[in-house]
Amino acid sequence: AASSISADRVPDMEKRKLLNLLLLGALSLPTVGMVVPYGAFFIPAGSGSGGGGTYAKDKLGNDINVEEWLKTHGPNDRTLAQGLKGDPTYLVVEQDKTLATYGINAVCTHLGCVVPWNSAENKFICPCHGSQYNNQGKVVRGPAPLSLALVHADVDDGKVLFVPWVETDFRTGEDPWWK
Ligand code: FES
Repeated sequence: AASSISADRVPDMEKRKLLNLLLLGALSLPTVGMVVPYGAFFIPAGSGSGGGGTYAKDKLGNDINVEEWLKTHGPNDRTLAQGLKGDPTYLVVEQDKTLATYGINAVCTHLGCVVPWNSAENKFICPCHGSQYNNQGKVVRGPAPLSLALVHADVDDGKVLFVPWVETDFRTGEDPWWK
């Protein structure tokens, strides 16, 4: 009886708001119940690329075994692999025949063409508007405003694992623009 008295004192609009609140509360329970299974589904799906990394893929879509790669890619080689978010990314072989610890994102910082490696010139030269980057992807001629983005090329279980590069750009000494 006490509750019906107090409810009678509440103006109609207030009652409606109260009802809406109750309805919202009732709806949000099943919503939470649905989110949990989705989360549980997505977390294992990303676990093959621990810590925000992605295994580099060759042109056939296979993981890249470093030992095998170095048998067919000699000093100063730069060959495209599939990188983070699917971006074409160069794997670099150093003069001492080791894999560089960084990869170079091939997307031109001018208007986004994929920049080919020119081994005779020892540069990356963009066919679209002529921008040039040195052999580490540092811009040396415009119109490209910025150097090519870097990623870490780590080795995990013998395979190349690309990991986002968030540290200082070793070519310029500046914070990465692509972070
Ligand atoms: Fe590379 Fe314009 S897109 S120079």
